[in-house]
Amino acid sequence: MIALALLLVALQWDLASGWGYKNGVLHNSIWLEQAAGVYHRESRSGKYQLTYKEAKAVCQYEGGQLATYQQMEEARKIGFHVCAAGWMAKGRVGYPIVKATFNCGFGKTGIIDYGHRLNKSERWDAYCYNPHAKECGGVLTEQKRIIKSPGYPEEYENEQICYWHIRLNYGQRVHIRFLEFDVEDDTSCLSDYLEIYDSYDDIHGLLDRYCGDELPEDVFSTGNVMTLKFLSDSSVTAGGFQIEYVAVSPPTEPDDTKQTTEMPETITYT
Ligand SMILES: *[C@@H]1O[C@H](CO)[C@@H](O)[C@H](O)[C@H]1NC(C)=O
Repeated sequence: MIALALLLVALQWDLASGWGYKNGVLHNSIWLEQAAGVYHRESRSGKYQLTYKEAKAVCQYEGGQLATYQQMEEARKIGFHVCAAGWMAKGRVGYPIVKATFNCGFGKTGIIDYGHRLNKSERWDAYCYNPHAKECGGVLTEQKRIIKSPGYPEEYENEQICYWHIRLNYGQRVHIRFLEFDVEDDTSCLSDYLEIYDSYDDIHGLLDRYCGDELPEDVFSTGNVMTLKFLSDSSVTAGGFQIEYVAVSPPTEPDDTKQTTEMPETITYT
């Protein structure tokens, strides 16, 4: 019982500080799905499903290649932590550990290295390196800003992956307004899409996934952070998007002059 309670406390602490599980994989969720151009990918059918050849194809599909050990270590140094072994360049397998835990990385930190695998049919995840993808996205802290798809107003390119992490002052909220929107349309938005998360990562709080050319409604965060993720696949592009975000500050005193920005009465997310 005590052990369970301690585990729960530890779990709460982890979630509060930006660590969490996604599909059973422990991530450091702080904007670091992609760090220094390195990011983690698993098969669409789940964890540990990719042969070496398939892992290479996954990275190439997104315009990158398998990360080298050195690139992994550079990413790890700035906080890239994923508790799942994946293919790297030259058939090496390993994963980056920043924070020592019992059940991940044998209590060590560093690149946990399984070495160059002789059997390339083994199934692991993949670690990709895509320097081009770094040209979009970033951490945004301004009170107001326009976010554009890569290359806008030109059509966006294939194989882009961008993360914009908005972080405002404590107590503020993020108000998102779509100014222009045109992303390759398909029924489930599987090819190209924009996702908005009501959190500082792309693990918690998915609000919606967008594609097509209808202008979506405004979106508000519940806290002072929000994440936008844009992904385009290897075929068919479209006009792209311009999205504005504005910080919404809470009313200070009841008697103060009226705030120019209004808080929404009710917001329903589905
Ligand atoms: C290589 O790995 C695959 C998948 O784990 C396994 O099915 C196969 O038997 C292995 N081959 C050899 C030669 O060990």
